[in-house]
Amino acid sequence: MLLSDTVKQLLFSLADGHFHSSAELAKDKHISRSAIWKHLQYLSTLGLELIAVSGKGYKLPFPLQLLEINKINQFVNAHSANLIHKIELHDIIDSTNNYLLKHAKDSKDSGWICIAEHQTAGKGRRGKSWVSPFGHNIYFSILWYYQDSPSALSGLSLALGVAVVKALQEFGLKEIGLKWPNDVYVNEKKLAGILVEVSGESSGPCHAVIGLGLNFYLSPKQADHIDQPWTDLYSILGSDSYTGRNKLIGLLLSHMLPTIANFSVIHLQNYINEWRLYDCMQGKEVTLRIGNQSYLGQVLGIDDQGLLQLAMQQQDNSDHSICSFSSGEVSLRV
Ligand code: BTN
Repeated sequence: MLLSDTVKQLLFSLADGHFHSSAELAKDKHISRSAIWKHLQYLSTLGLELIAVSGKGYKLPFPLQLLEINKINQFVNAHSANLIHKIELHDIIDSTNNYLLKHAKDSKDSGWICIAEHQTAGKGRRGKSWVSPFGHNIYFSILWYYQDSPSALSGLSLALGVAVVKALQEFGLKEIGLKWPNDVYVNEKKLAGILVEVSGESSGPCHAVIGLGLNFYLSPKQADHIDQPWTDLYSILGSDSYTGRNKLIGLLLSHMLPTIANFSVIHLQNYINEWRLYDCMQGKEVTLRIGNQSYLGQVLGIDDQGLLQLAMQQQDNSDHSICSFSSGEVSLRV
């Protein structure tokens, strides 16, 4: 779904992050002040945070760079540009992953990319929702077809974690960590997450929809429902980072697409040592939750198959046993 031209124009005016009075906006857009107020109310319902100060008007808490396909494409390198079949930008969508999953049955074209400014039903791992206010962050998904069986794609999300770290490094971020299986961490807080959804015949072919959510700017109010430590690029790099939203999507696509396209040939083994370099949980005492079960242990790292290895704490403090896990949610024990 696309926003109306008037709402888009209003957004362009507010994008500088400065105050604008409703009288100025009304004059500029040739509409009444009450119409401006209604449009601004509508933008708030999409999750866009607006600051209103009497006598001054309205402003955004940050300078907004709206997403534009041509600006994104400027930062996609030539090799990755060749891997893109179709790239779509939606103002509002339920979930970019759901959108591509719906289309996956009718299309056989790898490299379909769906980007959104706002998701009304953004999905996280393990049935959680992903907070997706308009214009604040990055939300996109990539559809890819494989001749292989779904099991051949195990470890794809770990390999993609490495690709995301490289894109962020190119963007200027330092000290980035990966938390098993596919969270991107900075300063022990989550900055981004990857959701890979694979379906197909057990002996192949299959398709994968790879979704990435990355926080650029989240207010504590918006993050109210997030049940784990979180961070955003605004807190790490400052307000200037915000004007690089198109650039960062371009860099992410440049690094992620080759990993996705080559995964049936270049498997996890080729990424595993690099993943271990960024492992920010190694040696830490953690709780691993799988459904209603909790396991306490110390993270030893990941094995060659990408499984999490924990030195399990025995109740009687006798020798530790080592267990490998293929799923679950890790959290630091404090
Ligand atoms: C996680 O829980 O860490 C994974 C989060 C993945 C969120 C992204 S946002 C774009 C894409 N569309 C969705 O509905 N989810 C993914």
